[in-house]
Amino acid sequence: MADAKKLYIKTYGCQMNVYDSERMAEAMGGAGYVATDSPDDADMILLNTCHIREKAAEKVYSELGRFKPLKAANPNLKIGVAGCVAQAEGAEIMRRQPMVDLVVGPQSYHRLPEMEAQVGGGKRALDTDFPEEDKFEHLKARPKAARGPTAFLTVQEGCDKFCAFCVVPYTRGAEASRPAVRVLEEARDLVDRGVREITLLGQNVNAYHGVGEGGDWSLARLIWALNDIDGLERIRFTTSHPNDMSDDLINAHGECAKLMPYLHLPVQSGSDRILKAMNRKHTAEGYIRLIERIRAARPDILISGDFIVGFPGETEADFAGTMALVTAVGYGQCYSFKYSARPGTPAAERPLVDPVEASDRLARLQALLTKQQHAIQNSMVGRDVSVLFERTGRLPGQMVGKSEYLHAVHVNSDDIAVGDLRRVRIVNSGPNSLGGELLP
Ligand code: 5AD
Ligand code: SF4
Repeated sequence: MADAKKLYIKTYGCQMNVYDSERMAEAMGGAGYVATDSPDDADMILLNTCHIREKAAEKVYSELGRFKPLKAANPNLKIGVAGCVAQAEGAEIMRRQPMVDLVVGPQSYHRLPEMEAQVGGGKRALDTDFPEEDKFEHLKARPKAARGPTAFLTVQEGCDKFCAFCVVPYTRGAEASRPAVRVLEEARDLVDRGVREITLLGQNVNAYHGVGEGGDWSLARLIWALNDIDGLERIRFTTSHPNDMSDDLINAHGECAKLMPYLHLPVQSGSDRILKAMNRKHTAEGYIRLIERIRAARPDILISGDFIVGFPGETEADFAGTMALVTAVGYGQCYSFKYSARPGTPAAERPLVDPVEASDRLARLQALLTKQQHAIQNSMVGRDVSVLFERTGRLPGQMVGKSEYLHAVHVNSDDIAVGDLRRVRIVNSGPNSLGGELLP
């Protein structure tokens, strides 16, 4: 490997981008590249970008600006932009930034090695098509290198829901599911390489309907098939839409041993008026009833969510509805954002809520969510959980892993290896993690 070229990938945004970056790195391995952690000695730099919230493009331009001296020092350095900003603004990036050699949208990653070979010496390439073929089929199979105990696996991509604020249907395209056999093959391969926990990914993962034996498979059916893989200990999935929470998936939470008791189920707002304006096609009450049904199937499940405050037209009364919904549900983990207009989405043309008012609402919402999160975390003290250990901690002798509920847990012991799944008694709760002791 003495003459291997070095590839530096910087990843922004969601877990799907993390997964895509891994797959692109592997595909570029076939073109003679090895991954590097630093842009300074790279032969190729790839920014895998996110367009979901504001200032995405500006961030990309300022990041590119920082690579200018590297390109000046090494004219053979190839610079690429991938991800959702590439999809949305690829031509503009090419125009504004002559030092960018290639732009590749998320549905064209399998063409990356070919594009890389074509560019350089003034030649450039842009591919933001939505091709018919399945990119994962064309991305080189994952090499058989050992890996850590947890992995992401994309099973579904794109979205047909068209929430009025969201760019995903435009950047990731129409909803599409990978065939079940491909997912199972990839899962088995990951397990052979040491993975014990798989998180199934999709922008609308519970809309999964991949072809499988006997017709289209639901996400629940896929999870049950994964449950049979020896050596795989834990299954998670994210992100789900309330309207696709089918009975078989709810029941799986009660019955499927390897499916972890954690569900990320964004609702965005607790006001029916705003939910309608967002094109969410569900009500606040409907969501609360759904959570009740999920908790009936799996009482200890930890619920997480996403909220947007300051959506166009949101009044103080609408916001009060959001606070009431949060109080009714009780979230163990949550992400909340101030609305930002995304060009090309239906809501982008609507008048904005006063930004000072929106920031004030966000602060009040986050205070409530943090209080709930800490209360649930503190209630873990004295309980026994299972922890999958992922890495060493900062202090000597400390190991860190995740509980079933996705809480980070620290344990001091010299008897734990990365990849171990152990029973732990929780003894204390800190600001962002729990402390525990190994159970015999
Ligand atoms: N403004 C603010 N937040 C947004 N999200 C998506 N689009 C926007 C936007 N335009 C949030 C939603 C979504 C999460 C991934 O990002 O809460 O669930
Ligand atoms: Fe975006 Fe999710 Fe709505 Fe799809 S369901 S449009 S990905 S927020």
